[in-house]
Amino acid sequence: MINRRKFIKTMSALGISIPAMAKSITKKSSNTSTVKNNPIIVCSRGEKWGRKVLKPGWDILKNNGLLLDAVEKSANVTELDPKDTSVGYGGLPNENGVVQLDSSIMYGPTHNCGSVAAIEGIKTPCSVARLVMERTDHIHIVGKGAQDFAKAHGFKVENLLTEHARKIWLRWKENLSDQDDWFPPADGNYDTHRSNGTINVLAVDSVGDIAGITTTSGLAWKIPGRIGDSPIIGAGLYVDNEVGAVGATGRGEELLRSCGSFYAIEQMRAGKSPQEACEAVCERIIYINGGKDKINFSDKMVAVNKDGDVGCAAIQGRKGGEPELAYWSKKGFKVLKGTYLIEN
Ligand code: GLY
Repeated sequence: MINRRKFIKTMSALGISIPAMAKSITKKSSNTSTVKNNPIIVCSRGEKWGRKVLKPGWDILKNNGLLLDAVEKSANVTELDPKDTSVGYGGLPNENGVVQLDSSIMYGPTHNCGSVAAIEGIKTPCSVARLVMERTDHIHIVGKGAQDFAKAHGFKVENLLTEHARKIWLRWKENLSDQDDWFPPADGNYDTHRSNGTINVLAVDSVGDIAGITTTSGLAWKIPGRIGDSPIIGAGLYVDNEVGAVGATGRGEELLRSCGSFYAIEQMRAGKSPQEACEAVCERIIYINGGKDKINFSDKMVAVNKDGDVGCAAIQGRKGGEPELAYWSKKGFKVLKGTYLIEN
């Protein structure tokens, strides 16, 4: 096996810098043919978020910019927006009122990936995950180690708990039990929804190379240190440059024990469409849980294949409120309505 330090030293002696090496690895392309619906960039949201999330990524892709820049800049939009309470800055905190973020990135041409989990104080965890992929020999870095790594790369440590998120957390805490000393206000109207929203951004560039990102603040009120599917390669995200990219949102524990995103990629490799592959994951999770009657949660899958065909399915939801995916391609901005396996 090549000694990594020796390799880096040799490259430096040849006048090739580490960032230049990382970049050249990033730019490696395995395919030069033009295929049908690409370039395309996809996210696991509908009209409301889709357009503003996908715009910066599409601008990069249509100008033949770097695929990884496209998915990162699009994912950064939700990470930096305090109005989204399930991703990045403004995300709902853990049970102690601390925001802990999870994110992963995967790049098809090199089959490389990076992730951070339970990282605190950094608004854009997907950008840190990208640096784990490009500037380390590791794949997952968690907790304080992830924050220290981000600081080493110049990221600012900031308070991610917005006033809005703090108030929702406080109401939750005050209403937890009537056996403790925390009292809710008399006019206690508050949002009880325990979110585990997330966003996936997937893209295929003009030469058919594929990349993806998943980023989240995870399950609201989680036990500190809990990690969901989003930073786990194969659960919340998987990319295979010969097949496509898949991302997941929803109850992370189910996506972890089904390896949901990897399962969908293997379904597509075996010939299923992205839509059929997303439905197959939902069916598998329902089966693992003992059938439709046993399901009291949901997961949503989004997928794109190498040709730029897309699919979206969720385990359950309200009739008329089908799960959505937005994409931007040469045909413009579009929203696809997916399917539910169980309609309530
Ligand atoms: N899917 C996000 C989470 O469970 O953390």
